[in-house]
Amino acid sequence: MKITFLGHASLQIEVGGKTVIVDPFISGNELATQIDITTLKADYILITHAHQDHILDVEQIATNTGATIVSNYEIATYYGAKGFESHPMNHGGSWQFDFGRVTYTNAIHTSSFPDGTYGGQPGGFIIESVEKTIYIAGDTALTMDMKLIPMQFTIDLAVLPIGDNFTMGMNSAVIAADFVQCNRILGVHYDTFGYIKIDREFAKLKFKEVNKELILLEVGSNLEV
Ligand code: NI
Ligand code: MN
Repeated sequence: MKITFLGHASLQIEVGGKTVIVDPFISGNELATQIDITTLKADYILITHAHQDHILDVEQIATNTGATIVSNYEIATYYGAKGFESHPMNHGGSWQFDFGRVTYTNAIHTSSFPDGTYGGQPGGFIIESVEKTIYIAGDTALTMDMKLIPMQFTIDLAVLPIGDNFTMGMNSAVIAADFVQCNRILGVHYDTFGYIKIDREFAKLKFKEVNKELILLEVGSNLEV
């Protein structure tokens, strides 16, 4: 599994011979100007919740690629009604896609579309491929529900928000990593706006102190899981 960081909480994942984009917010991110959304490949677009900083480029990428939009029932239905391919899920449910098995997990946050349309309840994803399993928390607080995850999954990489203010910050993310029993963390949802600026080196140190690795990728760079 290869994960490319597209800035903010946006990822492009090569898994099971397919390309999956998560929460595309690129054209509105001044830290991601090197990413050209018109050339991005995608077979699927996974959306954790309906906030602008997670859905901004969904329609353009789906139009360019014909990708199937996977999200909660309300978000999938919203895009389905606009003529896009969509697959609705809801919390605790799993589905075997051709690239791997996806589970929609709980998150504590909100989920309205920019125009106020109800976007269901926010979530995260677990993606199980033949090689590895990753947990994408989505925008969330630290929650006890995370303790349920390692009862069913062995997480090889946890993608956690660390920017604070709108989501958990780095101290909570350290505990979240413990809850999901994972020592390799990809940090997201930091530095994009004034409210979520962090000290990257300090954040890495916080994880290192408890023998965990916090990976903070440059926009456009990738890691192998
Ligand atoms: Ni949000
Ligand atoms: Mn967000």
